[in-house]
Amino acid sequence: RTLRIGLIPGDGIGKEVIPAGRRILEALPASLKLKFEFVDLQAGFQTFEETGVALPDKTVEILKKECDGALFGAVSSPSKAVKGYSSPIVALRKKLDLYANVRPVKSVMTAANPIDMVIVRENTEDLYVKEERTYDAADGSGKVAEAIKRISERASSRIATMAGEIALRRQKIRDSGTASIHSSPLVTITHKSNVLSQTDGLFRTTSREALAAARFSSVGVEEQIVDSMVYKLFRQPETYDVIVAPNLYGDILSDGAAALVGSLGLVPSANVGEGFAIGEPCHGSAPDIMGKDIANPIATLRSVAVMLEFLNEELAAAKIYAAVDANLEEGKLLSPDLGGTAKTSEIVEDILRRL
Ligand code: NAI
Ligand code: MG
Repeated sequence: RTLRIGLIPGDGIGKEVIPAGRRILEALPASLKLKFEFVDLQAGFQTFEETGVALPDKTVEILKKECDGALFGAVSSPSKAVKGYSSPIVALRKKLDLYANVRPVKSVMTAANPIDMVIVRENTEDLYVKEERTYDAADGSGKVAEAIKRISERASSRIATMAGEIALRRQKIRDSGTASIHSSPLVTITHKSNVLSQTDGLFRTTSREALAAARFSSVGVEEQIVDSMVYKLFRQPETYDVIVAPNLYGDILSDGAAALVGSLGLVPSANVGEGFAIGEPCHGSAPDIMGKDIANPIATLRSVAVMLEFLNEELAAAKIYAAVDANLEEGKLLSPDLGGTAKTSEIVEDILRRL
């Protein structure tokens, strides 16, 4: 099988870590019978400054027509609003209908308190439909601002179904003998339906229904109110396997969970739709460390693995996860964000060698 992968480095350290992502794909063992073709694509703030658009139509078109998946580095956003500029990754998620943001948060098994969870965030609706308005209060008490929180059955059902599929896939990997802190699949539905009985209520009941499907009969399903979820996530993160959440809660939980493993430089994600996935490290363009060859490439290498999982190349993904874990467990070649002194290039070489 030949997979065609779009490479969108973006800005800052995106330009340093995406080449590492390409190299690990090229270094996968020949026994997997996987070949890759790469297409270099533009997006980001530099692209905006050079061409006047942050996400050229050509990038979207090539991704749609020619690619099986993509890797996205990071983009810089100006601190003050710049006319005509808006985030290309947000636009890409929309244009390619990448309705799920999937973020695995995993420590090494040898950690004092190992954790291994995946947060599955709905990516198309909720408060992020950005339907806001501001008006003057009728009673003269000043301005009032409102935002629409939109939850649909269709979006809730497909995100919960994806969470169920991920739970099953993780169990399959455990059944094949991969060591894990979990023994059975569990999906935790996150909401605040005690207060928002209609919107979050719909998310809750629809998720429940989707996960009641016969093929998920082996998957445990529980729910948790989002505020107590934050508490438990920080106190007992090891209890979570797969978490499914509407857009806003998912955004907050996934950044919070990233803090549990020590560095942004370790945490991957993927934006997933029907038959397409974009791997994306969860960090930004990190202008403070760019150009020094010290960015941690692991978030990107793991994002390559997450992308591969959603392109049904689970074996290839497992090999990348294992090579990364071996590097971390040995702990000799670590980047400065993990307390080490190794260069990006040295870490990449070490992981490629283990692969
Ligand atoms: P950031 O994630 O770029 O950096 C936060 C801190 O983490 C910095 O100290 C940075 O050096 C460190 N860091 C991040 N990734 C690292 C890695 N791979 N290895 C080692 N250290 C790493 O977030 P920040 O500073 O808030 O934003 C910088 C720029 O990135 C802004 O223009 C922001 O808009 C953009 N950004 C883009 C994102 C995206 O493209 N998805 C996400 C977050 C921020
Ligand atoms: Mg976020």
